[in-house]
Amino acid sequence: MENLISLVNKLQRACTALGDHGEESALPTLWDSLPAIAVVGGQSSGKSSVLESVVGKDFLPRGSGIVTRRPLVLQLHRIDGDREYAEFMHQPRKRYTDFAAVRKEIADETDRETGRSKQISPVPIHLSIYSPNVVNLTLVDLPGLTKVAVEGQPDSIVQDIENMVRSYIEKPNCIILAVSPANQDLATSDAIKISREVDPKGERTFGVLTKIDLMDKGTDAVDILEGRSYRLQHPWVGVVNRSQQDINKNVDMIAARRREREYFSSTPEYKHLAPRMGSEYLAKMLSKHLEQVIKSRIPGIQSLITKTIAELETELNRLGKPIANDAGGKLYTIMEICRMFDGIYKEHLDGVRPGGEKV
Ligand code: GDP
Ligand code: NA
Ligand code: MG
Repeated sequence: MENLISLVNKLQRACTALGDHGEESALPTLWDSLPAIAVVGGQSSGKSSVLESVVGKDFLPRGSGIVTRRPLVLQLHRIDGDREYAEFMHQPRKRYTDFAAVRKEIADETDRETGRSKQISPVPIHLSIYSPNVVNLTLVDLPGLTKVAVEGQPDSIVQDIENMVRSYIEKPNCIILAVSPANQDLATSDAIKISREVDPKGERTFGVLTKIDLMDKGTDAVDILEGRSYRLQHPWVGVVNRSQQDINKNVDMIAARRREREYFSSTPEYKHLAPRMGSEYLAKMLSKHLEQVIKSRIPGIQSLITKTIAELETELNRLGKPIANDAGGKLYTIMEICRMFDGIYKEHLDGVRPGGEKV
C-alpha cells in the first residue's frame, strides 16, 4: 500500500507538470479524483505549525498576521537511507538540504507572485520533501480565513481567501484538517464554519485543536476532544505547537515533540487521552486514513487512468515520433506512471479477488 500512495503522489506531480497539456486531456479530472489533505482555519490558528509537526521538519514561514499568502501544495515522499532533501517545482534542478533555505524560498516565491504586499494569490507553490522520517502524504497549506482587511489589503480579501479555501475543500476527494485554537470559543471557529458548509456530515473533516497550552486557567478542552462539543465522524486530535517565543528561541522539532508528549501524559485532565493526542499521532492517523481512501477509490482512478493512457497515446501520435521536445517527454513520463499504476492495480485486484491466487 505504501507503493500505492507514493504512486498517487507521483501522478499528482506529473499532472501538474503537464501544465497546459492537461487542459486537453482527462488529466484535470484525474487530478481531482486523487485525495489530498488541506489545512484550513482562521489566521494564526496554528495551521502552518500543525503542518510542520505532521512533517516533522521546520520549513514553513509562521507567525502572527497573514504569513501564508499562496497555497502551498506539499508532497511528502518516504525514502530509504538517511538523506533528506526538498525540491520546488519551479526550480526543478535545485535540491535543498537546508530547510531554513526552503522557508526563505517559500517566502521569496510568495513575494514574486504577489509583490511584497499583504496581497494573496491563488497560484500554488509546489514543494516536495524526501525523507526517511515522513509518511507519504500530500498536504495543502492555505492562507488563513479572516474577518477584516488590514491596511494595504483590498476589501475583497476576506471573500477572496474564503473562495480560495473553498475551491480546495469542496472537492469530495479533499480531506479537511480543520484547525481551531483552544483559546477561542469553538462556536466562532472559522475552520468549523467553512468545513461544515462543504462536509455537513463531517465525514472527511478531521478536527485539530491547537493552543491547548494557552487556555484560561481552570478551563480544559476535554469536551471538545471527546467529541461532545462538536461531533465529527473522526475523533478530534489535540496538539501543542511551539509558541512564538519557542520559535524565536529556535526550539527544535524533536524537543517540541517531546514536550508535547509530556504535556498530554502529565496533565491530569488529558492523561487518559494521551495515546491519541499530539502531532505524531495525527500524522499516523492521516496516513492510515489516506490509505483507506485510496483503496476505496482505486476502481474509479483506474478507469480514469485507462482513459488517460488512451488519450496520451493519441496525443503522442499526433505530435509524431520520435519526440524531442519537452511536451512529448512529459507525456511519456505520465504515461509511464499511469502504466505503473495499472500494474499495481492489477496486483491489488489479484490480491483481493475472492478465491483469486496471488501471482
Ligand atoms: P497560521 O497563521 O494558522 O498558519 O498559524 P501559525 O502556525 O503561523 O501560528 C501562529 C502563531 O501561533 C505562531 O506564533 C505560533 O508560534 C503560535 N502557535 C501555534 N500553535 C500554537 C500552540 O499550540 N501553542 C502555542 N503556545 N502557540 C502556538
Ligand atoms: Na499566521
Ligand atoms: Mg500559515
